[in-house]
Amino acid sequence: MTGKKPYPANITGLDLSGITKVAMLGMGDPNILPLWFGETDLVTPKFIRDAATKALEDGKTFYIHARGIQALREGLAAYHKRTSGADVSVDRITVPGAAMLAITCALQSVVETGDNVVIVSPVWPNIFQAVKLASAVPRMVRLDENWETGKWSLDLEKLFGACDERTKAIFIASPGNPTGWMMSAAEQKQVLAFARERGIAIISDEVYGTLVYDGSVHAPSFLSIAEPDDAVFVIGSFSKPWAMTGWRIGWLVHPTSLATAMGVMAQANNTGAAHFLQYGALAALSPQGEEFRKELLARCAKGREVVDRFINGQNQIRWMKPDGAFYGYLHVEGLEDSLAFAQQMVKSVQVGVAPGAAFSLGDPLDESYLRICFAQDAEKLADGLNRISAALTPTSVSLF
Ligand SMILES: Cc1ncc(COP(=O)(O)O)c(C=O)c1O
Repeated sequence: MTGKKPYPANITGLDLSGITKVAMLGMGDPNILPLWFGETDLVTPKFIRDAATKALEDGKTFYIHARGIQALREGLAAYHKRTSGADVSVDRITVPGAAMLAITCALQSVVETGDNVVIVSPVWPNIFQAVKLASAVPRMVRLDENWETGKWSLDLEKLFGACDERTKAIFIASPGNPTGWMMSAAEQKQVLAFARERGIAIISDEVYGTLVYDGSVHAPSFLSIAEPDDAVFVIGSFSKPWAMTGWRIGWLVHPTSLATAMGVMAQANNTGAAHFLQYGALAALSPQGEEFRKELLARCAKGREVVDRFINGQNQIRWMKPDGAFYGYLHVEGLEDSLAFAQQMVKSVQVGVAPGAAFSLGDPLDESYLRICFAQDAEKLADGLNRISAALTPTSVSLF
């Protein structure tokens, strides 16, 4: 049927992310070694699965409070106290579904059509897609590469300079995906002071907050410095630290004044996370959950060293060793089309990686990067790295 259609340009203009464009070529194929998604190869621990199974058997199958069961929200308040020393009242915590939905709720709270959101990049593509879906404009401010110090850094003047009257939020993921960059507490204070003065919200994505390699329990958190009514939204997730990506459960800490609005948003978006799954999430917050989190962190730390050793033996690949999260954002000398190369690798060496192009909106600098997730069994990871290396041998670099 031809004729006039009601679809707005922000919808018709959507394109699949670069990660999906690669994964579509081999997702689920047992011959492909998958390093493309942000998840460990470990199954959710049994005690968490058991807690959800028991809740299901006990008949926890009904509608519940759309902002989450009270016990879970109380558990999350205690979690923030334990990990960041932050006092967060239960009234500020909503469990709408996954962290992705928490990000959507935060965006829905602050943007109107035509506003913009300033995003520290490179960044997980769902963020700028969600901004577009909210009829707002994503505005990227790229981290700087410093090969001498081996660290990514954020130029705060550049960040502040990108904000104008239509900027409603600054989005920061720290530790970041794909870079593993971590914002310092001092930088957070400066960003908060700027945002307060300009009436701009901060959306702080802290889903990798406890996956850090400097021995601290949690990366610097905006919750430690924000007042309950600052326009600060902090995103958390069960997906990463407890190997629960398929559960679709995370949370949002929001300003107290938005508690009622958040109840409506949670209702209208999903009417909350699945009832019985919330008991699994509650189990993750137990001391046993803390033990698992440490095991996972040790697995990631080992994976990080495997990648580092591999890179030391390569002359075409380098990285800035990440401070947190579980990704290697690998810079490949001479690579100019990361998507084509990642797609070619699925076929030629059966390894799945995410193309750098996925993490920005056309910034040519990201074309020289590939992202892998190193939260994997060390042998499997080494196999994946060797496959990447094989794809870079002179006979196979036809794309460069
Ligand atoms: C920075 C960042 N935020 C949020 C999420 C999503 O978490 P969830 O699985 O709870 O939706 C991801 C997943 O990759 C992520 O990398």
